[in-house]
Amino acid sequence: MGSSMAEMKTYHCSTGQKRIRIVTAIIACCLMMQSYAVNGTSDDDDRKACLYIVYMGHKPNTETPAAAQHQSLLQQITGSYKRSFNGFAARLTDAEKDKLSGYEGIVSVFPSQIRKLHTTRSWDFLGFPQNVKRATVESDIIIGMLDTGVWPESQSFDDSGYGPPPQKWKGVCQSSSNFTCNNKIIGAKYYHGGRNFSEDEIASPRDSEGHGSHTASTAAGNIVTPASLLGLASGTARGGVPSARIAVYKICWEDGCWDVDILAAFDDAIADGVDIISLSVGSSPQDYFEDTIAIGAFHSMKNGILTSNSAGNEGPSPGSVSNCSPWSLSVGASTIDRKFTTGVRLGNGRTYQGISLNTFAPSKVYPLIYGGDATNTTPGHSIGARYCDPNSLDRNLVQGKIVHCDDVSAGEEQIAAGATGAIMTTTGIEDNAYALLLPVSILTDDEGVTIVEYINSTSDPTAQIFTTHDFVDNSSAYVIYFSSRGPNPITTDILKPDLTAPGVDILAAWSQATTVTGLPGDDRVVPYNIISGTSMSCPHASAAAAYVKSFHPTWSPAAIKSALMTTAHPISVPDVPDAEFGYGSGQINPSRAMDPGLVYDAGEIDYVQMLCGQGYNSTQLRLVTGDQSSCSSTTTNGTAVWDLNYPSFALSSKKPKARVTRVFHRTIKNVGYAPSNYTALVSAEVGFDTIRVEPNVLTFKNIGEKQSFVVTVTAVLGRAMLSGSLVWSDGIHSVRSPIVAFVAPREHN
Ligand SMILES: *[C@@H]1O[C@H](CO)[C@@H](O)[C@H](O)[C@H]1NC(C)=O
Ligand SMILES: *[C@@H]1O[C@H](CO)[C@@H](O)[C@H](O)[C@H]1NC(C)=O
Ligand SMILES: *[C@@H]1O[C@H](CO)[C@@H](O)[C@H](O)[C@H]1NC(C)=O
Ligand SMILES: *[C@@H]1O[C@H](CO)[C@@H](O)[C@H](O)[C@H]1NC(C)=O
Ligand SMILES: *[C@@H]1O[C@H](CO)[C@@H](O)[C@H](O)[C@H]1NC(C)=O
Ligand SMILES: *[C@@H]1O[C@H](CO)[C@@H](O)[C@H](O)[C@H]1NC(C)=O
Ligand SMILES: *[C@@H]1O[C@H](CO)[C@@H](O)[C@H](O)[C@H]1NC(C)=O
Ligand SMILES: *[C@@H]1O[C@H](CO)[C@@H](O)[C@H](O)[C@H]1NC(C)=O
Repeated sequence: MGSSMAEMKTYHCSTGQKRIRIVTAIIACCLMMQSYAVNGTSDDDDRKACLYIVYMGHKPNTETPAAAQHQSLLQQITGSYKRSFNGFAARLTDAEKDKLSGYEGIVSVFPSQIRKLHTTRSWDFLGFPQNVKRATVESDIIIGMLDTGVWPESQSFDDSGYGPPPQKWKGVCQSSSNFTCNNKIIGAKYYHGGRNFSEDEIASPRDSEGHGSHTASTAAGNIVTPASLLGLASGTARGGVPSARIAVYKICWEDGCWDVDILAAFDDAIADGVDIISLSVGSSPQDYFEDTIAIGAFHSMKNGILTSNSAGNEGPSPGSVSNCSPWSLSVGASTIDRKFTTGVRLGNGRTYQGISLNTFAPSKVYPLIYGGDATNTTPGHSIGARYCDPNSLDRNLVQGKIVHCDDVSAGEEQIAAGATGAIMTTTGIEDNAYALLLPVSILTDDEGVTIVEYINSTSDPTAQIFTTHDFVDNSSAYVIYFSSRGPNPITTDILKPDLTAPGVDILAAWSQATTVTGLPGDDRVVPYNIISGTSMSCPHASAAAAYVKSFHPTWSPAAIKSALMTTAHPISVPDVPDAEFGYGSGQINPSRAMDPGLVYDAGEIDYVQMLCGQGYNSTQLRLVTGDQSSCSSTTTNGTAVWDLNYPSFALSSKKPKARVTRVFHRTIKNVGYAPSNYTALVSAEVGFDTIRVEPNVLTFKNIGEKQSFVVTVTAVLGRAMLSGSLVWSDGIHSVRSPIVAFVAPREHN
């Protein structure tokens, strides 16, 4: 119990904000442990009862009502899932947990954990202009946002011109005197698993954090002009599918996103009739059937709903990608060509361009002091003044000055000491900008040394910090440093993340119940804010998926995913090798994705075969699928995980320097023109012996026709990943799949 509880989970939000938030998340975990500690027997093991998810697979049949079934298993039920699948949450001691795990009909029993939450220039940057071709049924598309709720009064969610919700909608609006839905936000519900609310939490689907309004408006917000963060990134804010409807499922609170609530929201969203589920939340990788997001996404897939997930912000460490179930879409984060810079000018005339979002008016010329020269020597104060650590600065020395600090913080200590601004330096990589509590520019360590030299060189050092301005970054798009990387730690032979989308310095709607930073001392309440993270890239991909679905309402989740992946294009990955572990198939191109030519389709049976290859047995799979699926009934070839009909090809091997041959079976479906002929174009870098495609011409007489082919890859694996590609081309469509080969990390086998 201890080890799994220690894994923390929160939003996939920006690295800057993450630094600030992570502390609260860990405290919340400890509180959770305490609040579930009950005084029982003297036995140490049984003293603590923890909240567990008891997952029972497929939707219960009507003969045994789920509630009765759940109650018969245990008395203390916290949450019961029965609309779209079967299971419940309950407080269990270790002994109870072990007993339940052995019961027939139970797929898994695992601790409920707390997960993390992982404009608009971005759509134009993707070649997806405001006047792109739209399907008339776009307004029938419903995107389910599992997040921190929504600020319904935002202009991004104004419902002028919208008709009533689509008829298929079966959800509810948990309205109150303070919260009402409209024809844009057609449904909203909050999930809080029977816990008490903290003082600042709103018992309503209303967003008091900002994250949920941001992601919802990125996916499906109205076209709003002008929008900016206090003048920064000024322009038009818009969602990818601005006519689509939004259904809000509030699952994330001050202490993070609880498994019990995530599962309850999936249970409802699937039954409510949403078309796409967008979920910018995650944790460290877990077994598919002990991971509420993978479980929810599996049942979504069974019901024809694609779940789009953030890949996580734990990059660039290898194997850090989360949300890697093959039936969901895992989205990494890449840059757009708009970047922000904040100028600093010293009294000696020297200027620097740092990173930050400084929304304050340009500062005057102020005296400059080094934090290290302003140590508060009163007993009881902390050392670390050079880093401007909490409670370290001497207010008498710092007041009215710009303070130079050898570390990055939100600025609380600088404000407490009366500073008018701060120069902060970092050894880390700061490639996304975030707002702080006072005028700040973040520079490199080397630049910091020259500033301290200047301070040393004069009796009257001064500095001035300018307002942030944006510039065109011609090196974009590239994968951002923090974006989580492959290889896929659960199934190494399936490449993850699947693709990337813009997730850096994104402007979108914000909550009026918080401020730019959400920190004490900030009074900047704004309708639009700029934040970064795979949390921000995920709703871009969710919108692209909704866009494809608006043209092809009958396509399966796998077909939509294939369309997005095979039309994506590779981008650069600075300083980190193994590019595909950063971007998968590449950056999304929604305009092309609506007409992919061919798709790699897959359904539940394909995933079940893949899971057999992964080592699950028929007993477990039957519970999940609710039918008579059996591993032994699948063909020998079908049981290899790499034979899942996936739109990318990954060969992993435990043996370095050995020659490895791998045979991949694929079937591809014509969704373009008929008749048509596609030719295979293979590219492979040195290290691949051969990549053979048989047959290498596919002839389709009809739309919907399927053709199978075999890709045989032989490679000698070295330290670096080998990278190649297969493109099926009919002269109009290029259906591209990456082919990668690499040595699987030992610890993941
Ligand atoms: C458990 O016992 C301790 C010590 O007797 C007591 O302070 C605490 O309130 C009890 N907790 C609960 C949840 O009953
Ligand atoms: C409703 O909103 C008002 C103003 O925003 C706030 O003061 C009040 O506390 C809210 N009530 C509830 C029940 O959330
Ligand atoms: C929740 O609130 C109720 C009523 O105020 C209180 O009795 C209970 O102790 C609280 N539970 C926790 C875990 O704080
Ligand atoms: C600044 O001066 C202090 C002593 O006053 C010295 O220890 C420090 O190394 C100097 N820093 C730089 C960067 O020159
Ligand atoms: C980026 O490209 C634009 C347009 O091609 C050009 O005007 C600008 O100078 C370039 N900027 C940099 C920093 O290279
Ligand atoms: C299937 O796997 C589960 C979990 O590992 C195990 O408890 C069960 O005995 C297995 N069943 C069979 C038939 O092998
Ligand atoms: C299975 O794979 C083998 C070799 O990889 C191939 O010769 C055979 O045709 C495949 N069988 C089916 C049913 O696809
Ligand atoms: C496809 O190839 C066949 C055989 O080469 C040819 O007869 C046919 O005209 C081609 N069809 C199209 C649409 O190019």
